[in-house]
Amino acid sequence: MNVGILGSGAVAKALAAGFLRHGHAVMLGTRTPSKLADWAASNSGARIAGFSESAGFGDVVVLAVKGSAAADVLRAAGAEHLAEKPVIDTTNPLTDAPPSNGVLRFFTDLDESLMERLQREFGEVRFVKAFNSVGNACMVNPQFEGGTPTMFICGNDEAAKQIVREILDQFGWETADMGKAEAARAIEPLCILWCIPGFLRNEWTHAFKLLTNR
Ligand SMILES: NC(=O)c1ccc[n+]([C@@H]2O[C@H](COP(=O)([O-])OP(=O)(O)OC[C@H]3O[C@@H](n4cnc5c(N)ncnc54)[C@H](OP(=O)(O)O)[C@@H]3O)[C@@H](O)[C@H]2O)c1
Repeated sequence: MNVGILGSGAVAKALAAGFLRHGHAVMLGTRTPSKLADWAASNSGARIAGFSESAGFGDVVVLAVKGSAAADVLRAAGAEHLAEKPVIDTTNPLTDAPPSNGVLRFFTDLDESLMERLQREFGEVRFVKAFNSVGNACMVNPQFEGGTPTMFICGNDEAAKQIVREILDQFGWETADMGKAEAARAIEPLCILWCIPGFLRNEWTHAFKLLTNR
């Protein structure tokens, strides 16, 4: 697949390296391509461009930018470059406020997630929430003594979710599909829970697992 990754931060780099390792073609998009020159030099095959070129390149697009900038970045990428495409939404609606007792703050509330806001504005885009509930160091083929971790996903388009499920299979995850976009109201706050051991005890290498009797 051609994968367009909107972002230049730790998540964009970690997922880009994973897609490259699994044989996909990758183009990262950023306002400032020069800042990725060193990274590109040590990750051969990765292409660097602006947001709109990266979005146009992808059969699948990954949104990996600061939550408060997500809508602006999608506007800059251009709805015409994203229409009908699966867009993997890794973002969390974090404020810039410091955590209190390890608990981060969101600019959304429990009745409306960031992904629903994006889905409402960009109606033709097939958003799938994924990768938001684990740290970037554990996103690609993580190894845990407790077994295969679970990635919670949601989105309105079944075909897009199937593509994301196949990517998660490659990246070493079990997928738990929580349904339509509204489920992002529950999946986005998992980020807050995931970060608490980090802020309280400097523990950053864990992931969630759903236990069932199936
Ligand atoms: N860090 C993690 O381990 C982790 C784990 C799970 C989920 N997440 C979520 O994944 C997303 C990416 O996280 P990150 O830590 O990799 O990076 P980040 O520092 O949250 O975001 C960096 C990216 O946001 C873009 N950005 C920031 N302000 C902008 C603005 N005003 N206009 C346009 N673009 C702007 C930057 O664009 P330029 O490239 O143009 O500078 C850059 O690509 C976030 O939503 C985060 O909550 C993070």
